[in-house]
Amino acid sequence: MNLDLTILPGDGIGPEVTGQAVRVLQTVADAFGHSFQLQRKNIGGAALAASEDPLPPDSLQACISSSAVLLGAVGNPAFDHYPNHLRPEAGLLRLRRELGAYANLRPAICFPALVECSPLRPELIRGVDIMFVRELLGGLYFGEPRSIEGEPGWRVAINTMRYHEPAIERIACVAFALAEKRRRKVLSVDKANVLECSRLWREVVTRTAKDYPSVKLSHMYVDSASMALVQRPRDFDVVLTENMFGDILSDQAGGVVGSLGLLASASIGGPVGLYEPVHGSAPDIAGQGIANPLGAILSAAMLLRHSFQLEREAACIENSVGAVLAQGYRTADLASAGQKKLTTSEMGSIVVEAVKKSAEAVSTAKERSA
Ligand code: IPM
Ligand code: MG
Repeated sequence: MNLDLTILPGDGIGPEVTGQAVRVLQTVADAFGHSFQLQRKNIGGAALAASEDPLPPDSLQACISSSAVLLGAVGNPAFDHYPNHLRPEAGLLRLRRELGAYANLRPAICFPALVECSPLRPELIRGVDIMFVRELLGGLYFGEPRSIEGEPGWRVAINTMRYHEPAIERIACVAFALAEKRRRKVLSVDKANVLECSRLWREVVTRTAKDYPSVKLSHMYVDSASMALVQRPRDFDVVLTENMFGDILSDQAGGVVGSLGLLASASIGGPVGLYEPVHGSAPDIAGQGIANPLGAILSAAMLLRHSFQLEREAACIENSVGAVLAQGYRTADLASAGQKKLTTSEMGSIVVEAVKKSAEAVSTAKERSA
């Protein structure tokens, strides 16, 4: 298979972590006999600095004409005072919309070796395996009107939360279909005691559930869901929610499993999938070579699974990450006192070696059985 990708390293630690993810992808491609082509393009603050556009036309064009996109992160405090459409984040939001990527899958898994990294007690965190399904093209992020208007001292800011029935239905279908292959539970998170959007959300999700009779649907308000997420995270299987709630809860889940640096995501539903770690640009540690590349590497695994249906290759990366963690390798965000802290590229190299070993084992097993 030909893996033709656009890489958008972006801002902050984005280039550092995507660099390692690309090495891992190259290794997997070599080991499993795929060809691998990539083009690197600018997005976010990196693009603003070069072109005054957070998503320049040639970046967008490259994304649309490739089979999948791997993105590092966007965000740079230097642009904080810029108008909304000229902020780094605007480039990412436009890209999501242009790609029609309405379904954002964010797995939060507790690796057995990392039980100690969670702030929660081991008996609460062991075995946690949650799939957040975040609606990505609606709600407050895209609703119109939006503005800040009026005289200084008397200004009014407006954002609009808007949800259209078909947009709720299609994301609900994604959540139910995923749940059918997992533990067959969907928790839909809303704020139906206050918001019209949430009342419509609940109604449509409940109706859609009828097409998935094997899946058990429950509902929770977002405030109590966020409490339950730290009190009993193991009860969660698939969590279905709107854009803003999903943004917040997925970061919280990163804290629950030990580090946001581990979380990967896939934004799918349109013709080209977009894959990115959940952690963001982390300007405080950018350029130091200490960021955790595992979120980006695990996003590359999701890319192989969802854009190319390369399940074996995806699993090879995921198992390799599990194996290096089990061997005690840690980046700074995961290391406890006295543990050696690997740099970003050292962690990348160790995963690359683990992938080579695991791919060899797969091919030897194949030869034996042939
Ligand atoms: C995320 C990020 C983005 C979001 C920002 C960078 C626009 O926080 O992917 O979670 O809010 O969706
Ligand atoms: Mg976020």
